[in-house]
Amino acid sequence: MTLPLIDVHTHMYLPRYMELLRQRTKVPRVVSRAGGDRLIILPDEEADQSTSAGRPIGGEFHEVSRKLAFMDTHGIAISVVSSANPWIDFVEPDAAPALAAQLNDDLEAICAGSAGRLLGFGVLPLQRPETCAAELKRIAGHKHMRGVIIGSAGRGRGLDDPDFEPIWKAAADSGLFVFIHPHYGIGHGLFPDTGHAMMLALGFTFETSIAVALLILRGVLARHPGLKLLIAHAGGTLPYLAGRLDSCVKNDISKDFGLPKPPSHYLRQCWFDSIAYHGPALAALEAFADPEKIMFGTDHPFFRPHVTDDVLDRTTWPSPEENLQALGTLSAERQKAIAYQNGVAAFGVKLP
Ligand code: URA
Ligand code: ZN
Repeated sequence: MTLPLIDVHTHMYLPRYMELLRQRTKVPRVVSRAGGDRLIILPDEEADQSTSAGRPIGGEFHEVSRKLAFMDTHGIAISVVSSANPWIDFVEPDAAPALAAQLNDDLEAICAGSAGRLLGFGVLPLQRPETCAAELKRIAGHKHMRGVIIGSAGRGRGLDDPDFEPIWKAAADSGLFVFIHPHYGIGHGLFPDTGHAMMLALGFTFETSIAVALLILRGVLARHPGLKLLIAHAGGTLPYLAGRLDSCVKNDISKDFGLPKPPSHYLRQCWFDSIAYHGPALAALEAFADPEKIMFGTDHPFFRPHVTDDVLDRTTWPSPEENLQALGTLSAERQKAIAYQNGVAAFGVKLP
């Protein structure tokens, strides 16, 4: 069965941002080498011998035509495009609000010119949290913007940072999604010389899990039940660990978080992408989440296949294929819901 797809987890580095990465001499940066440009963005990536060369980066990261070509090859009708990590985290605080606004306007213009194929998640200047509510309100007026993407680390103090309270309120009031995505990883000092594999498989997912768990334990979702959080990579590890989190919170004699309901109640208010790569992991997400809140994702243009650039756009990428195979283990009704029906409802779109 070929299903139309709405991809809610797909990235671009917008041209203005690429320029910034090319000018930099420190991580995050893009370096021009004889064999092509390399993307070096992760903490410690340049210091570890197994990752110091970074990853290849070509037009698939920043050209709209390449995003559309990827979508066509994979049967994706609509993509909700977000900037990729590390967003504008490294920018001087005073420059961040204006840059965020420019990037958000750039993304809106790209989406507006896409004949209904692209929607956007913008960025926020988290280093100046007091400006973020106004930016959220501003982009709520942009026709193609459906929310913002923010890193799980926040501005380095976690998502339970008290200064973020106006952000959660503004997002809930405007109905915009907040897409929570990892970048810094957890524990990379523990696994040197493992390339990108351990960082992306475990570092990223535990970073997201800890950030979202803390946000829940500090009461953010209890205070803002209308807040629409979309959690990356099938919720990190949380759908699988939610029962353990409930039990550990309930049985802790040293700390009372004062939550009216168990943490899993609030976690179930969240949306999740279906990027699980594996039937059993997707089954755990299915068993846990609200059935209307799981939506297909690809993580394009990361995990690029090992082919030359001239054939890339016509090549089937393994990472979306693995996720489609996992989706194929579910009932026809559930496949439809995750592939596009939940996205249609969440983002108020019609399939072209
Ligand atoms: N690697 C990244 O750096 N970001 C992603 O979103 C996926 C893989
Ligand atoms: Zn991603």
